[in-house]
This record gives sequence, C-alpha cells and structure tokens, in this order.
Amino acid sequence: MTTLLDIKGLTKTYGPITAVDDVSFSVDQGEVLGFIGPNGSGKSTTMKIVTGFLSPTSGAVEVDGLDVTRHPLEIKRKIGYLPEGAPLYGDMTPMALMKFVCKVRRLSAEQTRRGMDYAIEKLHIENVLYQPIETLSKGYKRRVGLAQAIVHEPDLLILDEPTDGLDPNQKHEVRELLKEMAGKKVVIISTHILEEVEAVCSRAIVIAKGRLVADQDPLSLQARSRFHNAVGLRLPVDQAEACVGLLQSLNGVQQVRTSTRTASMVELLAVAIDGSEILETVHSAIDEKGIRVDEIFVERGRLEDVFRDLTFEVEGLKQSTDDDLEADHA
Ligand SMILES: Nc1ncnc2c1ncn2[C@@H]1O[C@H](COP(=O)(O)OP(=O)(O)OP(=O)(O)O)[C@@H](O)[C@H]1O
Ligand SMILES: [Mg+2]
Repeated sequence: MTTLLDIKGLTKTYGPITAVDDVSFSVDQGEVLGFIGPNGSGKSTTMKIVTGFLSPTSGAVEVDGLDVTRHPLEIKRKIGYLPEGAPLYGDMTPMALMKFVCKVRRLSAEQTRRGMDYAIEKLHIENVLYQPIETLSKGYKRRVGLAQAIVHEPDLLILDEPTDGLDPNQKHEVRELLKEMAGKKVVIISTHILEEVEAVCSRAIVIAKGRLVADQDPLSLQARSRFHNAVGLRLPVDQAEACVGLLQSLNGVQQVRTSTRTASMVELLAVAIDGSEILETVHSAIDEKGIRVDEIFVERGRLEDVFRDLTFEVEGLKQSTDDDLEADHA
C-alpha cells in the first residue's frame, strides 16, 4: 500500500493553548479515515496544517512524500479541502468558483474541462451552475463546497464536518458520495457523528485535547464497548422476572439490565464479562427453562460509549454512569 499522508510528531500551540499535541499517524491509499473528537480537540487545526493553511509549531507533515511547508503549491494540487462550515464566495456562481479553483491550481484547459465534468456529475449540480452560491439551499452549498474540493481530482480529500447542518436525506446523500469517491483516494472526514464513522469509514482516529487516543477500524473500536457481545432479549412481561433471575445466575454474565418496559413487553440486556461471547449460554439456558422470548440479538457495542470513555478521561470530565438505561439488576 502506498502511504499518501504521513504525520510525525505534529504539534500546534496558540499561546498557552496546545491545540495539537504530538500527533503521529499515516494514511494509505484507499483508506477512508474518520477523524473524531469532542469540540476543541484539534481536528480542524490538524486539517488546516495538512492542507497548508496553517504552519505547525513542530513536527512534520508529508503528502505523497512532499513536505507541506516546503511545497505548498504542489500540495494544494494533490489535496481537496472542504473547510469547516464550508465558507464559499457567495457572489460567485458554482461554475465561476470551480474555474477559479482550477486556475489557482494551474490546471490545463483539458484538465479543467475534465475535472469540471467529473465534479458536476458526481455532485449533481448541473441545474445550479449559474446561480449565485449565496442563493442556494444549504444542501446545494455543501455540494458546491464538495465540488470545488474534488474538481482538480486530488488524491487526498480533507473534509471538515462535511455533513454538519444537513438534513437526514442530504446527510445520506453526502455519505453515499464519500463512499463512491473513496476508491484509490484517501478521504479524511472530521465529524462528531459516530454513525457516520460506522457508515463510511474504514478507520477511525479519536483525538482528545489534541492527543491521539485511539486508531482502529470502527468495528474494533466498537468492540471496546462494555456492551460488546451483550445479549438483548425481548419478552412478554410475565416472563421477565424468571428470565432476569436465570440470566443473573449464568457464568459470563456481568449484569442484567432492563432497557425498555411497557405494559406488555420487556427488553432485557445481559452484559457480558469482558465482552466475551455469551449468546450460546443464554440461548440454551432460556430453552432449558422454557422461557418464552420474542426476540434475541447480540450487540456489537456502542461507539458512543467508547468515545465517551476515551475522551472524558483526557478532558478531565467525570464519566457519567448507566445513564441510558432504565433499571439495573446488577
Ligand atoms: N486561531 C486560534 N487562536 C487561538 N486558539 C485557537 C485558534 N484556533 C483554534 N484554537 C483553539 O485550539 C483548540 C482546537 O481547536 P480546533 O478548532 O482545532 O478544534 P476542533 O476539534 O475542530 O473543534 P470543533 O469540533 O468544535 O470544530 C481549541 O481549544 C481552540 O479554541
Ligand atoms: Mg473543527
């Protein structure tokens, strides 16, 4: 695999604030990297340094083997960048903006034509090409932002919260686009939306207070959740008591929780000790006891939980406990 982006010991300070703190990682061709972290954790600062809009305090960033501070123009040709909030020149039309971007990047007439066809087709903006950007809907503005990021067919796409502020349909559309665009490129997206990481990313990096705290594929990250391999059961209310008692007696079950309760139905969750597999054990035990269960499922884990565990500690916040479930039978 070819390494397209290589970051070593990257640090950025603003006076007394350390926004990025000794961050190192590299990204290979074809990877879609989710860059996640709480507000103020240094995501945008890192992205601005990689794209050459900010210089680092120390450390080095190489794109395709070129140092970003020493080769600013070549780097900009290799990178497509959607800045946070996607500021665009409002009085320009999408057509004019894309031409401008190609000109700044010194593309030939042929490259410009090809790139514009590609961007217009990918982002479906053919109907708004001659309309001032400031008069477009938010969704279309974001598409134009993405179009200007890909018009020069860059190898590395850096998108700072690309779906922020979009409605669910537009979010879905942008995510589909990102998956489609990935291919041989590298795509890095920053986001707070963890379902986005599950939906589009092959890898997730978590940063907190400027420090890298995790670097894994989303499934492995999810597996770090205390709910990994937990077994959920939906059953009639009259079966609940017997079922709770049984689950609590099983080896490998750490605790039993009630996640939902209505007049007729209960949902229980048997949390596994150390995330080990307990489905078989649970299944045969309820069979043996003749407990009637409507549904049984295994949890992969909750990314949200892992994110909190990883970032709260670094941020010096108190971890909230057991907030999302109704009752406990620990
Ligand atoms: N120009 C600046 N001057 C001073 N401090 C700054 C500047 N830009 C960013 N910071 C600080 O650096 C830290 C990291 O900010 P950054 O914008 O990189 O975070 P972020 O992870 O992108 O957050 P968000 O999720 O809110 O977009 C924050 O504490 C922020 O206040
Ligand atoms: Mg940001």
